[in-house]
Amino acid sequence: MAKKSFLVYSPPRNQVLNKAKYGPMWINYIGPQIHVNVASAPLLEQVMRQEGKYPVRNDMDLWKEHRDLQGLTYGPFTTEGESWYRLRQALNQRMLKPADAALYTNALNEVVDDFMVRLNQLRAESTLGDHVPDIAHQFYFFALEAICYILFEKRIGCLERSIPQDTKAFVRSVGFMFQNSLYATFLPKWTRPLLPYWRRYLDGWNTIFSFGKKLIDQKLEEIEAQLQAGGPEEPRISGYLHFLLTSGQLSPREAEGSLPELLMAGVDTTSNTLTWALYHLSKNPEIQAALHEEVVGMVPAGRVPQYKDLAHMPLLKAVLKETLRLYPVVPVNSRVITDKEIEVGGFLFPKNTQFVLCHYVVSRDPSIFPEPDRFQPQRWLRKNQTDALKGQHPFGSVPFGYGVRGCLGRRIAELEMQLLLTRLIQQYEVTLAPETGEVTSVARIVLVPNKKVGLRFLQRQG
Ligand code: HEM
Repeated sequence: MAKKSFLVYSPPRNQVLNKAKYGPMWINYIGPQIHVNVASAPLLEQVMRQEGKYPVRNDMDLWKEHRDLQGLTYGPFTTEGESWYRLRQALNQRMLKPADAALYTNALNEVVDDFMVRLNQLRAESTLGDHVPDIAHQFYFFALEAICYILFEKRIGCLERSIPQDTKAFVRSVGFMFQNSLYATFLPKWTRPLLPYWRRYLDGWNTIFSFGKKLIDQKLEEIEAQLQAGGPEEPRISGYLHFLLTSGQLSPREAEGSLPELLMAGVDTTSNTLTWALYHLSKNPEIQAALHEEVVGMVPAGRVPQYKDLAHMPLLKAVLKETLRLYPVVPVNSRVITDKEIEVGGFLFPKNTQFVLCHYVVSRDPSIFPEPDRFQPQRWLRKNQTDALKGQHPFGSVPFGYGVRGCLGRRIAELEMQLLLTRLIQQYEVTLAPETGEVTSVARIVLVPNKKVGLRFLQRQG
């Protein structure tokens, strides 16, 4: 039987074709297993609202095999049932609520400051004096630096001119692990000792986990030193890892198993969303001009945005919502309802049916989003909502998933993207570099551009 990776394989264009051919629900087979694809907001809602206390996404066997071989504890993606629930209760602290995310504003602004310096260097070094040939690559390093700083409270040098060796090795190993996981998914197990992919897959993970362990060990030493200095009566509770360890939410061993999974989830997601947002803003100068007006109205040039400013920037939020509607980074997700039979679309399905949630095609449904392929952030603004939009379906676009198993990092992802976008638009007019042309999306675990997105960052006056 073919193994499933994090996301059940169903490329966006297949979703579109299959929905056109079969309607909003169809089945397909992966080996002997039946997948029930749901591709309309009401059906999605029916599946998700019937999930139990411990929702199951899919089996993640391949990731678990690595953890088992290395004697690591499972993280939020790999754990199930009650132990997942307990882990999520711990990890949700200081992460899930908007007020939790607000705590990281200064840290994120520090990383944004450094990104702006790095961007300026890159522009200055380009022939045109304002050109960045592959913005997704730069956002990748921004996102990695940001999530590491939040999780481990450590800067890892991604935005320096010369990136430290162990950070480079980490980045390489993430690519390596994902590439080789494809072979591991589709090739039979007996080929593992014969072909190099299995060793490479495990090595990729090992580097990822030892990178995390090193940062956790450093934190433990710091905590120990603080306790020695200040005594056990006054532990200093600051960032995420510090809080989790000192408040007893997680043991060091649990942190070692979980934090690398958070790290993996927090990089491609935000970096690709930022790339798509700037791509569309550069193709829609009037929307960019309106956003610029909103941004400098709240945060004039030279000022750094604060958390409270963001509440007054509805267009900024709408730009990100619209970006995620068009390009849900996770274009397909899944749920297995393990505890009961469920009825969906008038059919009764047995326990343990695997439902594939076709988010990409759902969020481009013209009956919910008129002119669905157009980038129109205004559709999310309350004052512009026509009668059609007032009836917008709550499951029309759910890029962060749903319910207790929904995205853990949603609030920090939103904050991180809002803070960076504010600064970029405040300082630059962004245009598409001529070599870029039309960009479409392809699914590589997450939804990414099919080619490099080159942009020009033209300095604004004043
Ligand atoms: C644009 C940014 C992001 C998007 C669109 C996104 C989207 C998603 C989606 C769709 C899921 C599956 C939810 C479900 O099954 O209902 C998910 C899960 C998850 N995300 Fe995110 N994510 C983003 C950023 C982040 C960041 C920055 C972190 C870092 C902490 C993160 C951590 C996680 C974790 C740990 C899970 C698994 C939760 C669980 O199974 O309990 N994500 N994300």
